[in-house]
Amino acid sequence: EIILAPDAASACCEAAARIAAHVRATPEPVLGLATGRTMEAIYRALVGLHRDEGLSFARCRTFNLDEYHPIAPDDPRSYHAYMRAALFRHVDIAPERTRLPDGAAADPAGECRAYEEAIRAAGGIGLQLLGIGLTGHIGFNEPPSDFASRTRLVELDETTRRQNADLFDNRWQNVPRQALTMGVGTIMEARRLLLVATGAAKARIVRDALEGPVTPMVSASALRLHPACTVVLDPEAAELLD
Ligand code: F6R
Repeated sequence: EIILAPDAASACCEAAARIAAHVRATPEPVLGLATGRTMEAIYRALVGLHRDEGLSFARCRTFNLDEYHPIAPDDPRSYHAYMRAALFRHVDIAPERTRLPDGAAADPAGECRAYEEAIRAAGGIGLQLLGIGLTGHIGFNEPPSDFASRTRLVELDETTRRQNADLFDNRWQNVPRQALTMGVGTIMEARRLLLVATGAAKARIVRDALEGPVTPMVSASALRLHPACTVVLDPEAAELLD
């Protein structure tokens, strides 16, 4: 299902409304969360729904897609810090109900196994929020990423490190070379997927993902194999679609 919103702000409000509807309708919601610039407006909208309309996150558990490696959870440039600042601090969710991969884990492989186990123990992810990178990554699944891949330590593409340099003194060389990410296979097990892409910079990769070959060279193309995936786009991101 592709939803074309009139502009980027509406796309983000639409995504937030869908997350809110899922949370309200589900006794024990398990949310898969993403970070990045696109998500900031979505989290702002969710914080607004919490404040103004009583949307409660108290019953939720959350699992984020990814975290840089190595980076400490209290590092202001970490995705742990991003999530606290963008959402967790502003809503009624207990910190122990939120989880991100530990970018400071001494044993990354063990941390990845424990992460998968924690998702399983929570009953699996009900709704997974996704952005898309210029390399076609979902999470940090850079090309090529096997569609059966699980949570693991990955090398980030230079494109991605350049895309994310703003928090690292605008020097892409300062962006960590590695990350822990849910695999494509992990993401595909979520019962519903919600991908949001806005802005002209995403137009080409959105077209490749939605209309090009389904291939491990474009991780987001795997979404077309998912039975319940919604894609929300603004006109700029949808520009090159047929
Ligand atoms: C972040 C993540 C990434 C981003 C993607 C888009 O948790 O998983 O896949 O969603 O890199 O980032 P922005 O929104 O900054 O363009």
